[in-house]
Amino acid sequence: MVTNTKTNIYKATHKTRQPLNHEIRDQVIPILSHLLADTSDLYFQVKEAHWNVKGENFIALHKLFDDVADDITEYIDEIAERIAQLGGQVHGTLQHASRSSRLPTYPESITTGHDHVDAVSKALAQFSDNARQGIDDTDEFGDPVTADMLTNITGGIDKWLWFIESHNL
Ligand SMILES: [Fe+2]
Repeated sequence: MVTNTKTNIYKATHKTRQPLNHEIRDQVIPILSHLLADTSDLYFQVKEAHWNVKGENFIALHKLFDDVADDITEYIDEIAERIAQLGGQVHGTLQHASRSSRLPTYPESITTGHDHVDAVSKALAQFSDNARQGIDDTDEFGDPVTADMLTNITGGIDKWLWFIESHNL
């Protein structure tokens, strides 16, 4: 039998009294693991904007990007801890995020508020889309608690997308 290490690292391998059955947990953990990578990537994309933005809206955008980043740290922790609750190994390193993130590549030489708003908006929108897929899938697999957590996170991201993209609309 061929072992696929890429998918096996996302199985529910740790002992737990968690009542959700093993099969469901094995389906939910990979979804959360990919979203954890997306969320970690998103955090540093938003910090990249916080650190590099220049121009007439500097202080407003600099502070706004940091508020977004603060919320994202909470989401990283919630998603990682849900993986642990389900008996999964948490893959939370930046190295893992770099290999697994599904977000667009952040442009590394932009400076204007307009360009950072555009880049962060794209990242937030892609994240929201991925998380929404996660809500549908985890609900369908039979884990409404994870679906509910992802619904709350997506609501927060959608709010920040509105705050950010409104600068360029
Ligand atoms: Fe800062």
